[in-house]
Amino acid sequence: MNLKGKVAVVTGGNSGIGAAIVLELAKQGANIVIDYRSHPEATSDLEKKVAALGDQAIGIEADVSKIADLQMLVDAAVKQFGHLDIFVNNAGVETRTTILDTTEKQFDTVLEVNLKSAFFGTQIAAKQMIKQGKGGRIINITSVHEDWPMPGNIPYCLSKGGMRMLTRTAGIELAEHNVLVVGVGPGAVATPINLSTMKNPALMDKLDTAIPLGRMAKPEEIASVVAFLAGDGASYMTATTVFADGGIMHQSPGL
Ligand code: BGC
Repeated sequence: MNLKGKVAVVTGGNSGIGAAIVLELAKQGANIVIDYRSHPEATSDLEKKVAALGDQAIGIEADVSKIADLQMLVDAAVKQFGHLDIFVNNAGVETRTTILDTTEKQFDTVLEVNLKSAFFGTQIAAKQMIKQGKGGRIINITSVHEDWPMPGNIPYCLSKGGMRMLTRTAGIELAEHNVLVVGVGPGAVATPINLSTMKNPALMDKLDTAIPLGRMAKPEEIASVVAFLAGDGASYMTATTVFADGGIMHQSPGL
């Protein structure tokens, strides 16, 4: 077990990619604070699954767009488990709106939940890790759309582009403390954020055809990358993003 004795916080941790990350980190031996906003029953279910793996998880209801709530997550990790080693900025939302129809409210929500939370999550986690003096890992779940336009989803692209530069810049700023900051950029993953696509067979066909591997990822296929980046094998990786996208970003018919 790669992460025995480590303590992690996972934001947006009770569904989708977040829930898979919680389980994978627990399989590797970590104890976990699960941040969630809704569906407390999904959190309790996950706590039980983690306990069955021989680790401990506690669910904390927090709004990651609020700095005080992010601090509460880090404080909970320290209070419950004594220290913090891994902070995963995973919480994310999208509006599927264009430059012409995005409202101020939609813009603010996406930027606050996706980017502001990752910025201050990184800041607060890094301060705790620096205080402990043993370095740490901050993992930002971005998207292929940190770099690749998705017309019709522009606030999301902006937020993920911001997370890309957060990863790079904070990675450099925190390197002297051995706090490593890396991004994981998934492509299309079978999670609640993609429900509207998954319910539409024509869209699914189009999507599968566009992906060189021919299918969406399972959340576990992203979580395994996160677990690698949290472990000893990734000790020389910082200020960069690892894409797990089935090749979609480089898809080309080669005409
Ligand atoms: C978005 C999805 C999109 C996928 C591939 C993800 O980051 O959340 O809406 O289908 O990227 O384009």
